[in-house]
Amino acid sequence: MSPEKPASKEQLRLKDEVAIVTGGASGIGRGIALRFAQEGAKLAILDIDLPAAKRVVKQISQKDGQAQAFDVDVRQEALIGPVVDKVVKTWGQINILVNNVGITYPVSLLDTDAPDKWRGLIDTNLTSAFLVTQTVAKKMTESKWKGSIINITSVHSQIPDPKSSHYMAAKAGLVGATKCWALELAPYGIRVNAIAPGAIRNTGMNRDITDANDLQKAKELNIPLGRHGLPEEIADAAVFLATNGYITGQEVFIDGGFILTH
Ligand SMILES: NC(=O)c1ccc[n+]([C@@H]2O[C@H](COP(=O)([O-])OP(=O)(O)OC[C@H]3O[C@@H](n4cnc5c(N)ncnc54)[C@H](O)[C@@H]3O)[C@@H](O)[C@H]2O)c1
Repeated sequence: MSPEKPASKEQLRLKDEVAIVTGGASGIGRGIALRFAQEGAKLAILDIDLPAAKRVVKQISQKDGQAQAFDVDVRQEALIGPVVDKVVKTWGQINILVNNVGITYPVSLLDTDAPDKWRGLIDTNLTSAFLVTQTVAKKMTESKWKGSIINITSVHSQIPDPKSSHYMAAKAGLVGATKCWALELAPYGIRVNAIAPGAIRNTGMNRDITDANDLQKAKELNIPLGRHGLPEEIADAAVFLATNGYITGQEVFIDGGFILTH
């Protein structure tokens, strides 16, 4: 959870660092952006929902933080380079990248349009992370900026569900990429890790969870800690991974024990 008292300027853990968060306009990405800003980072929020991204920027600015919203579809390779260039032009460096964009919908092997649905989700949940990481890693290595890349995976990188092969393949693929990128970028002082959330409320993926039904729905899902998680709890892990200098290539589960019972 976020600390009750805001940290003093000297205690800020991400002071003057520059962070890019994809999908930072909503849910987990928004939680990470707000928390990073609270810790002193300057935020670039890349999202297709510009009005929502601007609302996050406003919230950060109202607390004296610095943030900018960029209207970009991270599946579009040609759009990523110019946005990353703008971030560097504005703040001079990039230290943290959070690849958070992700969507979900069911796909059955028996659907006639399954190939298009498969490609659409792999593009959004896996290829986009590759494209953004490639562009940012190039800048970081060329300019010798050390830093941290965090990929948001899922408990479903490990746990299968019917009609979910595309989602599991994307998330398991992102875990594999995390480990390969960790090895490739370690010589440059860039660490790459993943966070695997369980069922998190106040997010696009779990809009139906409310104060009133949280405990009941968590029971139905057999979550050992008996409740859904919060974006702030994923953000805590993101701050940890961004600041601990000796962790790389890991997938950290923040799931209330979900994978223990599935
Ligand atoms: N919510 C959960 O319980 C949960 C659990 C496990 C993993 N995850 C993962 O966490 C991440 C965030 O999930 P969430 O539920 O917070 O999502 P969300 O729907 O609340 O937010 C996703 C954001 O991504 C943006 N976006 C979608 N496609 C985009 C694109 N092509 N380019 C740019 N922006 C795009 C959306 O506009 C939105 O602002 C996803 O990768 C998801 O797979 C979520």
